[in-house]
Amino acid sequence: MKFIAQIEPWLDEKEEQAVSAVIKSGWITEAQKTKEFEQMIAQFVDSKYTSVLSNGTVTLFVALKALGIGEGDEVIVPDFTMVASANAIGLTGATPIFVDIRKEDLCLDLDEVELKITQNTKAIMPVAMNGRSPDMDRLLQIAKDHNLFIVEDAAQALGCYYKGKHLGTLGNIGSFSFSTPKVITTGQGGALVTDDENLFKRITELKDFGRIDRNTQDHDAIGYNFKFTDILAAVGIEQMKKLEWRLKRKKEMFQLFKDQLKFVEQVKFVETNLEETSPWFIDIIVSDPLELQKILKEKQIGTRVFYPAIHTTKPYKGTEVFPNSLWASEHGLWLPSSTFLKDSDIIDICNAIKIFYENR
Ligand SMILES: Cc1ncc(COP(=O)(O)O)c(C=O)c1O
Repeated sequence: MKFIAQIEPWLDEKEEQAVSAVIKSGWITEAQKTKEFEQMIAQFVDSKYTSVLSNGTVTLFVALKALGIGEGDEVIVPDFTMVASANAIGLTGATPIFVDIRKEDLCLDLDEVELKITQNTKAIMPVAMNGRSPDMDRLLQIAKDHNLFIVEDAAQALGCYYKGKHLGTLGNIGSFSFSTPKVITTGQGGALVTDDENLFKRITELKDFGRIDRNTQDHDAIGYNFKFTDILAAVGIEQMKKLEWRLKRKKEMFQLFKDQLKFVEQVKFVETNLEETSPWFIDIIVSDPLELQKILKEKQIGTRVFYPAIHTTKPYKGTEVFPNSLWASEHGLWLPSSTFLKDSDIIDICNAIKIFYENR
């Protein structure tokens, strides 16, 4: 049996031809193709402004910088997320303030958020874990009541919504990632979306050495180089054309996994509204993810265990406890999730899981 990877990007001759055309055009740095890619994203998520940057970590950093967040400030972030969310806060000089998640959706526990707000809190960074979101109405109200910014880490949420509004567009700035495992990829890449023209200008400045107009040497501020390239944009444009199909397929796959495993009482799924959420990864909760992973690997089936709870990692080890975050990190497993999977592959994977539990 061929090894089934946990996730595989889908790039084919369309991307190959598009990249080749850009190379032949003689212009490869960020220009027209990048604008086209940005417009496609803006239109898809329904945001006024979109800027694409080198990856979904610097997007978070630039979003926070654009909002003026830095040393002495605190930013609230879930303890269960990909570590880039927290690292990006640290990069600005601000302090990440960790908050536990809810087991129901693996997202920020808003009761806990309210308890962690101090005079120094400047922003909250909700993370749309696998495209699910916390109660955004309540979160926006908390932000309003305390005069806080919302930077949405929607890295995993392209094609996912909250009450019909695309995630990433509810707060001040939303951030997406196009790293290799994401629903669309440019190898590396990320996007910021906002409806605020001034924030967009600040993002433009920060990503291009501190200038708004790249035809000048007028550097009005200290900026960086987090620009995109037209080579990557050509890939992104082709990927966007595949997005609708992929989102639909991911939903079908999630449902099929759920149906196939519904009588396996040891396997739990996180409650997911497939009307609004297209799960990027098939996530399951089990008591023994490492053991299941080992057995599946022997059967040529790749999986990934969930992220570690951030407070347990070396750079962030502290004395606080986050029981639900720890629970998620110790019980979660991502099953094969690439859209190359056929229904028959999914049935085979589920049968392997059933056999594992029948033999225990
Ligand atoms: C929730 C979350 N935030 C941030 C990132 C960072 O994105 P990138 O890998 O593009 O830097 C990721 C990437 O996996 C992510 O899942």
